[in-house]
Amino acid sequence: MYRTHTCGELRKEHSGSEVTLSGWIQRVRRLGGMTFIDLRDRYGITQLVIDEKATKSLQQQVDDLGREFVIQATGKVLERESKNSKIPTGDVEVDITELTILSPSAVPPFTIQTDTDGGDELRMKYRYLDLRRDVVRENLVLRSKMAVAIRNYLDAQQFIETETPVLIKSTPEGARDFIVPSRMNQGEFYALPQSPQVFKQLLMVAGFDRYYQIVKCFRDEDLRADRQPEFTQIDCEMAFVEQNDVLETFEGLTRHLFKLLKGIDPGTFVRMPYAEAMEKYGSDKPDMRFGMIFNNMTEIAKGKDFGIFNSAEYIVAIAVDGAADYSRKQLDELTKFVQRPQVGAKGMVYVKYNTDGTFKSSVDKFYDQNDLKTWVEACNAKPGDLLLLLSGEKTCTLQQMSALRLEMGKQLGLLDKNTFKPMWVTDFPLLEWDEDTKRFHAMHHPFTAPKPEDLEMLNTNPGAVRANAYDLVINGVEIGGGSVRIFDSALQAKMFNLLGFTKEQAEAQFGFLMNAFKYGAPPHAGIAFGFDRLVSLFAGLDSIRDVIAFPKNNSGRDIMIESPSPITQEQLDELGLKINIKK
Ligand code: AMO
Repeated sequence: MYRTHTCGELRKEHSGSEVTLSGWIQRVRRLGGMTFIDLRDRYGITQLVIDEKATKSLQQQVDDLGREFVIQATGKVLERESKNSKIPTGDVEVDITELTILSPSAVPPFTIQTDTDGGDELRMKYRYLDLRRDVVRENLVLRSKMAVAIRNYLDAQQFIETETPVLIKSTPEGARDFIVPSRMNQGEFYALPQSPQVFKQLLMVAGFDRYYQIVKCFRDEDLRADRQPEFTQIDCEMAFVEQNDVLETFEGLTRHLFKLLKGIDPGTFVRMPYAEAMEKYGSDKPDMRFGMIFNNMTEIAKGKDFGIFNSAEYIVAIAVDGAADYSRKQLDELTKFVQRPQVGAKGMVYVKYNTDGTFKSSVDKFYDQNDLKTWVEACNAKPGDLLLLLSGEKTCTLQQMSALRLEMGKQLGLLDKNTFKPMWVTDFPLLEWDEDTKRFHAMHHPFTAPKPEDLEMLNTNPGAVRANAYDLVINGVEIGGGSVRIFDSALQAKMFNLLGFTKEQAEAQFGFLMNAFKYGAPPHAGIAFGFDRLVSLFAGLDSIRDVIAFPKNNSGRDIMIESPSPITQEQLDELGLKINIKK
């Protein structure tokens, strides 16, 4: 038997009993003739003590020990004289009489404790050592608990967990596919799923009624803090439902998770049409933890001698609560912030609404106190507030203001990680016009149904058609997205046509789906949550990498196993691939 207890288990009540523990050595300290060892496992840390009266052979063994050795130790539990209130086992120690080295360790490349000295790269290369650290492992424990809670919830709601294949053909979710060459069908390729979208729809045709899967998806796209090339979705589909049924079911799931894992009720899930989100927040994933709602100043601010505003398509302002005392330097820095290439504004106008009721602005040359008064009134600002204005082409200006709003939220400490404001964004545009290819793209995916009241416009003004699609957004993060689906093969064919597929191309790529729709397809709708994003939100982290056991770095590489990597000429030949391998 390797152990009678874990390293997190022993308490005062165990005093006097004989125990055996196994674990990793966190550190060894010598004080006079005494040796103290902190022994660690997943459950905690227990102090072992080797007395000066211990046998010589035991004393010698202790001399060989080093950090991260795996040992087994047997001895008696004693109540400590000087207790450590910082750890749950801090009342006791184990007086060791027997010790076995189960596995020695090389000197670890970084210290395995909460505040490690290891940099990012090093920790990724030795991820198995990084995962020994409590702070890292706790995120994975949370992930596991959330997965169990999700399964239990969906199972109770009659969802059937079904696995779908990984070697498939291209599904259009808007990213590039990862491709796998086929040895048995040379010159042909599988694609890894960007999502199980078409399979879950086929399961609805099959009459499964409710499907779910916690499933790996693969997308070859540029990486960011909230994107990995392989990531996990909570993927779901329901038959005989309308949009509201899906929103209520998944609002229920989200509430359940908040209650179970964080003990909180996240309040009302606001539902906001896309167009309103863009006008009020300049974003389809607004962070609702704070206000600073946009005000359209286009009419109000034009007509004086300020050329920049006069020539602008759109002028937008936010009122920043209590920031009228921003210094010249702070305002200059904000201007530099909006001028960064990532934001792209030409400049910024400010108005300080002083507490004495006067105004001081960066455009005093063009606007008098009365003009500025109408501005602050339009923004519902109060004395002590700061107005920030941007102008230019409408879409760009709204996006730039969205970046500035978030920056102000950050500067004023409004992005509290323990506050959660979930919302649904609905009624996205069905199609997006792509200037480069001079074609429409599906904003969500080609299987999304138009809103019934906009159906007619498909023939006259497709760009204005709204989709029966929705996103779950929490604190400015897109947690999930889904839609009501097309279930009529004629409408699906029309959609492919609008997206620039010829009849033959649509048949070749999606013939199986349109064919399936001919055999009695029920009305259906669904959604997928990004599981990594949801866990990292619950864990209060900024990057999804920290909730993935073995993530890829920003270049899509696993630097621990060194992947991707070249393959041999024999493998290439077997696959019938002609590639010149760089020597
Ligand atoms: P969508 O493409 O919106 O919808 O994806 C659903 C959710 O998956 C998460 N996500 C990602 N997470 C980490 N890394 C990535 N690269 C990544 N890409 C997406 C996001 C996103 O909201 N088949 C549809 C769903 C449906 O219509 O039912 C789909 O995949 O949180």
